[in-house]
Amino acid sequence: MNSTKIRLSKQPSESFVHTAQLMLPEHANTLGNVHGGVIMKLADEAGSLAAMRHAGSHAVTVFVESMTFDKPVQVGFLLHFNAKVTWVGTTSMEVLVKVDSENPLTGDTVETNSAFFVYVALDDYRKPTLVPELSCETEVEQEMMDSGEKRRLQRIGDSK
Ligand SMILES: CC(C)(COP(=O)(O)OP(=O)(O)OC[C@H]1O[C@@H](n2cnc3c(N)ncnc32)[C@H](O)[C@@H]1OP(=O)(O)O)[C@@H](O)C(=O)NCCC(=O)NCCS
Repeated sequence: MNSTKIRLSKQPSESFVHTAQLMLPEHANTLGNVHGGVIMKLADEAGSLAAMRHAGSHAVTVFVESMTFDKPVQVGFLLHFNAKVTWVGTTSMEVLVKVDSENPLTGDTVETNSAFFVYVALDDYRKPTLVPELSCETEVEQEMMDSGEKRRLQRIGDSK
């Protein structure tokens, strides 16, 4: 990593990303509901966009933490992906992605999935590079940042 880089600071809200995708028959599993892998891929895409916004560089997925599948998602529903950086290390960033499923006929929306993703920012030589610090604006954001250190230790211990 280039240690001469000046470290900037950004707010979590600056990384916020919302994406949406209509679920079609091509997204279905054998039961006719949406395939979990489709949801994971779209969540990872939204999460990586949030990480890239924060880092201002490319970011690759290095860890996915226990995605929940709380309710089945029906074909014909609109999935919303909301992603925001919740913790940063030196070159890595944790992003919480929440997924909501909307019935487009009624507007009724329920949360169906959530997961933490960890990304590493890469420089032009594809080496890990320094990311901006996180400057929290709300108590919730600060709590997420503080508890992020515990989650990092649970993931990788003191080894990295
Ligand atoms: C991401 C990658 C470049 C990191 O390389 P590395 O040699 O482990 O780099 P480092 O040891 O310097 O670690 C870099 C950061 O990643 C973090 N990290 C590494 N492995 C991790 C893991 N399993 N879980 C969480 N964080 C991890 C380290 O803690 C470190 O964070 P910090 O700088 O904030 O302290 C390398 O693992 C890689 O190329 N992985 C494949 C990524 C990929 O192809 N993803 C799928 C497609 S996007």
